[in-house]
Amino acid sequence: MLNKEPAIAVTGLRKSYGPHLVLDGIDLTVPQGTIFSLLGPNGAGKTTTVQILSTLLKADAGQIRVAGHDLAAEPDAVRAAIGVTGQFSAVDDLLTGEENLRLMADLLHVGRGRRRQTVHALLERFDLADVARELVAAYSGGLRRRLDLAMTMVGEPRLIFLDEPTAGLDPRSRRDLWQTVRGLVENDGVTVFLTTQYLEEADQLADRVALLSRGALVAEGTPDQLKRLIPGGHISVRFADETALTVRITDAGVVESLRSVLEQLDACEAEVAGLSVHTPDLDDVFLALTGDASAAPTTAGIGFLTSLTSPTSPTSPAAPTTPISQAAPTSLTAPTSPTAPTSPTAAVTTTKDPAR
Ligand SMILES: Nc1ncnc2c1ncn2[C@@H]1O[C@H](COP(=O)(O)OP(=O)(O)OP(=O)(O)O)[C@@H](O)[C@H]1O
Ligand SMILES: [Mg+2]
Repeated sequence: MLNKEPAIAVTGLRKSYGPHLVLDGIDLTVPQGTIFSLLGPNGAGKTTTVQILSTLLKADAGQIRVAGHDLAAEPDAVRAAIGVTGQFSAVDDLLTGEENLRLMADLLHVGRGRRRQTVHALLERFDLADVARELVAAYSGGLRRRLDLAMTMVGEPRLIFLDEPTAGLDPRSRRDLWQTVRGLVENDGVTVFLTTQYLEEADQLADRVALLSRGALVAEGTPDQLKRLIPGGHISVRFADETALTVRITDAGVVESLRSVLEQLDACEAEVAGLSVHTPDLDDVFLALTGDASAAPTTAGIGFLTSLTSPTSPTSPAAPTTPISQAAPTSLTAPTSPTAPTSPTAAVTTTKDPAR
């Protein structure tokens, strides 16, 4: 690969399954040695994109260069330079971890001498040495994902595709895997193309993030740039009588909005039990930009308030590790909601939840 050439350069990528248009002209660029995260709701086309870029599926149209090669003209050269960890684990349950790695080395024609070294090094590096001789059937989800990633690394790829690599993992295993992925980039200079539904994952790992929705990239940038697309955030107030309200932070900014809310609370001598300020995160961006516009926002505010105050859901609805599908109801509180109060004053009088 030429030094300055991006690891991935795509223009006008299109793909349909029969009449179903999935990718409607995607453009993206991934510089070498960076982590790029493609985010999108279920069925957005993330796996389809990964499969096309990794030569497993043919695009209908588009100019695509991967690892310095034209995908259509030199698929073999692309294959030789990349590794893919698919959405569903590709390890063989009936083999041990070590046997899986050896099998992969054989498939990639790694010579016998080097094979031993490679397998040993990967077992150590991915912290699998202790379980190397156990059948994969007995592995936990986290171990299996680590083995999957180790197998992806057998061929020493310069570019790896990780399709939802931490789906279903517990928070600790997820963090371990993030650390491993960071290590691949920082120590080996590998480029990572990652899809995920965990927005915290993109926030933690990715240099750049793109949001895929209805066949198009609706936003792209660094996690911070994307967060700036969504102004405001909200202030949650809990009262002593168990009622609550949510106040959208206005254009005046967090400090001004907070000051205004506090003044009004003082003025009406409300007994406040708790107050928190929520500044926008990738969840908000994702949900605002990919949410279903047809879902009525009028009831959404109420649902949001309920979830904030419900005793059965003690955690914030936008908890960082909540998968998008579960977090979807919060999308309906997008800042464009017509019920959004235009000023803290309006908010105080309109969003108090009287039912509780
Ligand atoms: N082989 C196929 N034949 C027909 N339709 C398909 C095929 N593969 C995927 N699709 C459809 O294309 C769309 C995109 O699917 P894809 O698997 O790329 O989405 P995704 O973003 O990876 O979703 P998820 O988050 O659920 O993994 C979906 O509507 C899916 O049903
Ligand atoms: Mg998928």
